[in-house]
Formats: sequence, structure tokens, C-alpha cells
Amino acid sequence: QEAPNADLAELIRTIPDHPKPGIVFRDISTLMLDGGAFAATIDRMADALARANGGDPPELIAGIEARGFVFASALAYRLGAGVLMMRKRGRLPGPSVSIEYALEYGTDMLEMHDDACGPGASVVLVDDLIATGGTALAAVELLEGRGAHVRQALFVIDLPELGGAQRLRDAGVAVHSLIGFDGD
Ligand code: PRP
Ligand code: MG
Repeated sequence: QEAPNADLAELIRTIPDHPKPGIVFRDISTLMLDGGAFAATIDRMADALARANGGDPPELIAGIEARGFVFASALAYRLGAGVLMMRKRGRLPGPSVSIEYALEYGTDMLEMHDDACGPGASVVLVDDLIATGGTALAAVELLEGRGAHVRQALFVIDLPELGGAQRLRDAGVAVHSLIGFDGD
């Protein structure tokens, strides 16, 4: 039986040993270059959300810089939702809240404007890919710290062997991804 979204998966380029030996990099830029596939990706994300939430659209789609912005903004347009930018360190002009998160080596930082969402705001978190889940968990912590209700986290790609989706579910967040890649 064919995996779901196999038509999209085959457009994702695999680059072995990037950014360092032993890492298999899943390059979504090749899917993004295909207009029909990009549209299908957004449509299927919208469908997954509708199935999970009974058709009630969120107020905001929170996208994670940088690749997450591409999918978050297109999905927000399709749903009639606003876009909330979760930015990397030092980019936002207004009063912001920030959180450091661990990378394999060192740390990075996500920030959002502290008035970007009100308490109880209905938010869907979007990124291109979840691996260890460190980035998405940091985003959820920031959003929930501002009182948002993160109804769903949506990804194009999941690398389940790295455990991020499970960590997110353990933190009480509903998770959906279109494509899962086993390590190889
Ligand atoms: C990648 C990817 C996710 C994150 C997933 O982003 O786009 O945001 O890593 O990894 P994790 O689940 O282990 O945290 P990256 O920080 O490489 O940068 P970019 O999106 O700005 O290209
Ligand atoms: Mg990213």
C-alpha cells in the first residue's frame, strides 16, 4: 500500500551528509518549486485541519522562521486567518517575548511580539518539518505563555525517529504531518 502523500514525498530531494556526515537532509525546496505540488500541500494541510477541528478555522497561523513562513502564510490565506511570525533572534521591532532552545550544537532563540495574540486566541502552529521537536516546543511554550490556545501543530514533514512529534504530543499538542520519512 502506497504511503499517504507519496506524490508529494517524491518531490522532496534527499541530500546525504548535509550539513555534516551521517545526516540525511530532506530538502523541501524542490517541492516548493512545483506550483501544483505546493498548492496540493497547502490544500491537504487545510483538509487535515478541517478534519481535526470540525471546520472551525483558527484566528491565527503561527509560522516559524524561515521555512515555516512559506507554508504558514499560504495556509492562512486559504483559511482567512492571520499570520503570527515566530522569528529568530533580534528581528522584531516591538516589545517581544523570547525563548532559547537547544540545537544539536549550541542554542537558538525564537521571539514573538508580546501583543501578537490575546489570551485564548485560537492558534495553529505551522512549520515545514519536525525533527527533534525543540523548535516547535519552544514555539508552543512562547504562544501558551501569552495565553494562546495551540489547537494543532501542522508539519509537511515528520522525521519520527527523532521523536519530536511524540514530544509535542506528550506536551498535550495535537500533531499532524503530511509525510513521514524513516531514517536511512
Ligand atoms: C529546521 C526546520 C524546522 C527545525 C526542525 O529549521 O525548518 O524549523 O529545523 O528541527 P527540530 O525539530 O529538531 O527543532 P532551521 O532552524 O534549520 O532553519 P530555517 O527554517 O530557517 O531554514
Ligand atoms: Mg525551520
